[in-house]
Amino acid sequence: MCGIVGYIGHREAYPIVIKGLKRLEYRGYDSAGVMLYDAESGIKICKTKGKVVDLEAKAKNGFTTNGNIGIGHTRWATHGVPNDVNSHPHLSNSGELAIIHNGIIENYAPLKEELIKRGYVFHSDTDTEVLVNLIEEVQKKENIKLGKAVQIALNQVVGAYAIAVFDKKNPNELVAARLGSPLAIGVGEGEYFIASDASPFIEYTSNAIYLEDGEMANIRLHKPLKIRKIKDDSLVDPYIQELQMNLEQIEKGGYDHFMLKEIYEQPSVIKDTYRGRLNANKGIVQMAGVEDNLEKFLNAKRIVIVACGTSWHAGLVAEYIFEEFARIPVEVEYASEFRYRNPIINKDDVVIAISQSGETADTMAAIKLAKENGAFVFGVCNVVGSSISRETHAGAYTHAGPEIGVASTKAFTTQITVLTMIALRLGKAKGTLSNTDFHTYLQELEIIPEKVAEALETNDRAKEIAAAFKDAPNCLYLGRGYNFPVALEGALKLKEISYIHAEGYPAAEMKHGPIALIDEHMPVIVIAPKQGHYDKIVSNIQEIKSRSGKIIAVVTKGDTQVRELADYVIEIPETSDALSPLITTIPLQLLSYYIAVMRGCNVDQPRNLAKSVTVE
Ligand code: M6R
Repeated sequence: MCGIVGYIGHREAYPIVIKGLKRLEYRGYDSAGVMLYDAESGIKICKTKGKVVDLEAKAKNGFTTNGNIGIGHTRWATHGVPNDVNSHPHLSNSGELAIIHNGIIENYAPLKEELIKRGYVFHSDTDTEVLVNLIEEVQKKENIKLGKAVQIALNQVVGAYAIAVFDKKNPNELVAARLGSPLAIGVGEGEYFIASDASPFIEYTSNAIYLEDGEMANIRLHKPLKIRKIKDDSLVDPYIQELQMNLEQIEKGGYDHFMLKEIYEQPSVIKDTYRGRLNANKGIVQMAGVEDNLEKFLNAKRIVIVACGTSWHAGLVAEYIFEEFARIPVEVEYASEFRYRNPIINKDDVVIAISQSGETADTMAAIKLAKENGAFVFGVCNVVGSSISRETHAGAYTHAGPEIGVASTKAFTTQITVLTMIALRLGKAKGTLSNTDFHTYLQELEIIPEKVAEALETNDRAKEIAAAFKDAPNCLYLGRGYNFPVALEGALKLKEISYIHAEGYPAAEMKHGPIALIDEHMPVIVIAPKQGHYDKIVSNIQEIKSRSGKIIAVVTKGDTQVRELADYVIEIPETSDALSPLITTIPLQLLSYYIAVMRGCNVDQPRNLAKSVTVE
C-alpha cells in the first residue's frame, strides 16, 4: 500500500512527482504529500489529508514548486489516522532529512522509546517518522553520509519498506531501499526516477531497475547508480530492464473509469494471455514455466492454491477445472489463513500462488512458508517483475496489462485463462482428458474472446437492471459448480465498489440458511447458464420465486424456462460448463459498475481499499 515517487535530474520535479502520484493512487489515496528542494529555499513540504488533487489545490496557495529534486507519497494509512500531520514526507528533528515510506516498521515502538530518551520529539503517529529520526541519530553519532546511515538504520529495523530519503546537506542525492515493498528506478539521460511501479516514469525512459528485497541504491546526479545489499554492503550489478508498458495502457482511453476500460479490454487481453501458448489447430497448449517443470506437476499428489480476494476466486474456479481435467486433488486457501495455521505441506505438493499485483503480503508469506517446507511453488501473476513472480520457483504471467481500477476485472478472467491452459496441458499429459475433449476445449478457449465481446453487449441491460436495484441494501448471488466462485466474485465486486452488502452462495446451500433472508425486497442474482446443473438451479429459482425474491438471472441465449420465472434476464452466449466463468462474470462486472456509478461512488478508488495490499 502507499505509492512513492522520486525525481532527481534537470527537469522541474513537481509536475513529475504529482503526475506520478496520480498514477500510483491505486495503491492508496487517503493523504498525499510532496517535498521539493531548491538551493534558495531549501526543503519545502506540502502535504494534506485527501487525494493528489487536494494536494495540488493546497500547493496553489503559496507553495513554491520549483526544484529539480523531489519526493512524493500517496498514503494508505496503517499507523495513525489519515490527516495532514501523518501524511508523508516526514522530516527528521533537525529538518535536514526527508523520507517517504511504503510499508510498516514493526519494531517502531521500542525504537521510538529509545529515540525519545535521546531527546527526539515526534509530531505524527507514524512509524515512518521513527525511521527518519533513527537515520538521523545514526548519521550524527557516526558522522557518516546518508547512504551509510540509512544502511545501518535499516539493519536495526524489522518490517517492510520501500523508502526514498533526501538529505539537505548533500542535495544531489537520493537514497532508496526496499524490503517487502516494490521499488523501481527509472534510468534516464542525466536523470533518475524512483517509484513503486514504473508507471510514473514511462514517458521519460523505458529503462528500469527493479530493486530486489534487501537492496538499496545511492542515486546521485551525473554519477553511476550504486546498488548494494543492505545486510552486508556487497555491491550488486544493476540489471536494467526494458519496460513493456506503454502510456496508452495506463490512461483511461475515453472511458469514464479505469474499471470500465478494463472490463472492455477483456476480449483482447484474454487473447494476449494465450497468444503464443495456445494453438487449437495444432492441438498445442504450452507455457514455458509449465513445460520446464512438467514432471513436478504430473507427480504432484496435490495442488494447493494460495491467493486473496478476486485471485482466490480464480483459484476456486481452477479447483473445479484441475480436478475435472487433470484429476489432481486441489485445495484452495486464503493466503492469510494458510500462513498462520501450521498447514501440512509435502515435498510433492505443487503450490500455485495467484496474484494480480504480485505484491500481496499475505500471498508472499504463504509462498515463503511453502518453499521452506520443500514444495514447488508456481506463480500466476500479472505484474511483470513483481515480488511474487520473483519469489516463486517458476510461473506464468497473465499478460493482462496494467490493471488500475481497484476492483479486479480483467485480472480475474486472465488468471482463469492461464489456469485453464495449465489444467488442459496436465489433463492431456496424464491422459485424464480424452483427446476429443482436449481439442474441443482448445477450440472453445481460442474463440472465448469473441464470446466475451458478445457478453459485453449486455452493457445496456446491466445499466437498466442497475437502475432498478441501485438502492437495494442487500443482494444475494447464487451459482452452482463452476459458477459458484463467480457468485462469490459478483458479490465481492458489488460490495467493494458500491458498498451494498452482498453475499455469494452455492445455490443449493441457500436452503440451509440464507433463504430466510428472501422477501420481496431481496434482489437475487442467479447464474444459470444452460450447461452444468441447469435443472437443479431452475429448482432453486423456483424456491426464490415462491418467497417473492426479485430474480435477476444470467442465462444462455434463447433460454425460455428461467425467463418465465425471473424478473430480469441477462442473456450470454453459450459455452462449455468449464469455460462459462469467463462469460458469466462479464454481466456481473457491468452490473456492479453501473450500480456504483449510479450511487455516486468512486468506482476506481473505493473507500478503505488499495490495489496492492502489501501489509498483513
Ligand atoms: O494483487 P492480488 O491479486 O494479490 O490482490 C488480491 C486482492 O487484494 C484483490 O483481488 C482484491 O480482492 C480486489 N480488490 C478485488 O477486486
